[in-house]
Amino acid sequence: MPREVPQGTGPSPIRDPRVLEVIERLNATRRHPQDDAFAGPSRHDADAFADYGFSIHPDQGDLIYLLCRGMGATRVVDFATSIGMSALYFAAAMRDNGGGRVIGAELVQAKVDTARRNLADAGLADYADIRVGDARETLRDLGGPVDFALIDGWPLPEGPSLARQVIEILAPQLRIGGYVLNDNAEPDFLAYIRDPANGFMSVTLPIKRGTELALKIG
Ligand SMILES: C[S@@+](CC[C@H](N)C(=O)[O-])C[C@H]1O[C@@H](n2cnc3c(N)ncnc32)[C@H](O)[C@@H]1O
Repeated sequence: MPREVPQGTGPSPIRDPRVLEVIERLNATRRHPQDDAFAGPSRHDADAFADYGFSIHPDQGDLIYLLCRGMGATRVVDFATSIGMSALYFAAAMRDNGGGRVIGAELVQAKVDTARRNLADAGLADYADIRVGDARETLRDLGGPVDFALIDGWPLPEGPSLARQVIEILAPQLRIGGYVLNDNAEPDFLAYIRDPANGFMSVTLPIKRGTELALKIG
């Protein structure tokens, strides 16, 4: 008999009240566009949604923090950064691991400005490098082996999903034993990560609509 466990009910592993305060503020001010915004001509235009975070679920953030702490991660990737919720969890782990860098990617300048403010409010500005522009360009050179990558993408009108395009750029830069967490379960991303030929094994976690956690093994 499957057991129903409510999401987001446990305490966060993050202890720093300054970080928790910013996370709580972002959660308390979450907004979602009206449904008809996704039917209009600008539904794929990231700039048209500059006021919305579309941020990760607290359970996903806590998992990112916990895994990064456990593996001693020092170089991690946040695709995409938006207003900085996922970057806060990553940057807190980098700081609490004794040092490291979260490399973020975000297309919309206004969101990058907000993310940088939120990281500064949390006292974590020194642990983040948020790159402005198209992640398919800005994440090509991460400067060394990556321990953990979040793939939290954005819908495109046609062709391969951004999640699929970005995992193909990140996979060769991820170390063996590194993790990838995916939020939106894009079918072509799942096909890539579940194909043993690509060197990953993964599980689908019951968080949101299904959160894929993959481990690089080869
Ligand atoms: C689901 S949100 C990310 C939420 C973020 N992880 C958080 O927890 O706050 C997806 C973001 O992708 C950005 N985006 C869309 N296309 C992009 C691209 N080609 N390169 C970088 N960022 C992009 C959007 O502007 C949007 O902010």
